[in-house]
Amino acid sequence: RKAAELFLMKADEAVSLKGFFTVALSGGSTPKGLYTLLAASAFRDRIRWDKIHFFWGDERHVPANHADSNYRMVDECMLSKAPVIPENVHPIPFGNGDAKKAADDYEQTIQKIFRLGKGGFPKFDLILLGMGDDGHTASIFPGSEILHEKKRLAAAVRIEKNNSCRITLTPPVLNGALLIVFLVSGQSKAETLKNVLEGDYEPERFPAQIVNPTDGRALWLVDKAAGKAVYMKT
Ligand code: 6PG
Repeated sequence: RKAAELFLMKADEAVSLKGFFTVALSGGSTPKGLYTLLAASAFRDRIRWDKIHFFWGDERHVPANHADSNYRMVDECMLSKAPVIPENVHPIPFGNGDAKKAADDYEQTIQKIFRLGKGGFPKFDLILLGMGDDGHTASIFPGSEILHEKKRLAAAVRIEKNNSCRITLTPPVLNGALLIVFLVSGQSKAETLKNVLEGDYEPERFPAQIVNPTDGRALWLVDKAAGKAVYMKT
């Protein structure tokens, strides 16, 4: 609910200021409740859906109708139930199985919509992120070379542990956001969250630490179970 209120507030601000709102959505399971809530009447009727450009922070490299697709999850929970403008929904393309091409195409879409010159970086109004039990965020996993990416906006990454491929926004894009909201829930995240928020700076081990917005700010919305190691500290 807090995340939904923030989404609504940031969307209203951006639309009043510049006529549109840009958001990169996170995948996985935690944000399903948020997306469902935004499409429910209490919020749906207050959001300027026609002024929103929807992007994704990362995507499993699968077709849009695949069970693992983040696009499919967001579409089922929210986009299919709200009056969005289809041209303003920018899924990370599957690229006929060519992950590098998919990342390149996605990068070009971002450059077009944000009207970026060569070497420019987007400033998303809002980026939603989750955090894995291993401290990854988006599809930036421990030890990933993407942690050091300074130029690309999006990149294809191979996930050794399950031999899968993903496309992810890169750290400079995440850190260009005006607001980043992490949504973290569940006991399984508690230890990692304590390391991320209170441990030494070791983004190789805990990639979520790479998120440190240049001009914007990062906000962690954490439930009691996930925050018990950190929460009890106060
Ligand atoms: C994905 C997400 C990923 C997710 C974390 C947490 O594609 O899976 O982008 O970064 O946010 O893995 O996932 P849960 O919310 O399912 O715990």
